[in-house]
Amino acid sequence: ELLKQSFELLEKRELAPKVNLYKVRAPQVARARKAGQFVIIRVCEGSERIPLTIADADPVAGTVTLVVQEVGSTTARMAQVKVGERFADLLGPLGAPTHVAKIGTVVCVGGGIGIAPVHPIAQALKAAGNRVIGVLAARNTGLLFFRDEMRKACDEVRVWTDDGSEGKKGLATDAIKEIQAEVGQIAEVVAIGPVPMMKFVSKLTKELGIKTQVSLNPVMVDGTGMCGGCRVSVDGKSKFVCVDGPEFDGHQVDFDELSRRQAIYKEDERRAMERLVK
Ligand code: FES
Repeated sequence: ELLKQSFELLEKRELAPKVNLYKVRAPQVARARKAGQFVIIRVCEGSERIPLTIADADPVAGTVTLVVQEVGSTTARMAQVKVGERFADLLGPLGAPTHVAKIGTVVCVGGGIGIAPVHPIAQALKAAGNRVIGVLAARNTGLLFFRDEMRKACDEVRVWTDDGSEGKKGLATDAIKEIQAEVGQIAEVVAIGPVPMMKFVSKLTKELGIKTQVSLNPVMVDGTGMCGGCRVSVDGKSKFVCVDGPEFDGHQVDFDELSRRQAIYKEDERRAMERLVK
């Protein structure tokens, strides 16, 4: 009976178009997880496993919060699960936790859906005594969420949109330039979001000499380093995001290769989606 109660969906709400928040009962994961870690969920028997970063957790209530963008058939299926229903399984916490130390002023950039995984990292960095400046960046205001959560987690939050519909008009890179000009030296940037965003942030911070961590979210199958599905090149070496990551030095990740691999995956997803709707 105890086992049956596990992984029950307790709360679900839409944060942005096709972006849902799921609060799931998973007491052991809620107690054990550290910033930067993720879980692998199987929505129902026979469905594929998807890696999801833990956006928040409540060890007392025994819940973990996941923020999921509908990008394919499995996440579309996840969106159909109703409060009170259960996920087939939930494995975690997985991945190496974020390295958290007191280093000074840290900028935590969340681009679109990346706002969710950057949130617990901002919390942890602030708890360690850093001055944390959060940057929420997206194409437009409708794609932003977690404004209050990030204000709580950070000392200060700045909002930037590509079209200027909320906050300042510009990209995550513009936000970093602005902050760098104001505070002098930024000790570290943590950037999580779409691959092109992490690529250009990393390119900029390399020029500025700012240490940068990115968190990658490629296709994962087994989550144990055996299948090779999540391979990325970091500093010219093959790494597996599920066991070596998900965080890596942004200055050493081969983002172009990652983009190519994602494009291949999208084609597979499109086919699976067609099967689902048929
Ligand atoms: Fe299979 Fe990482 S998910 S190696």
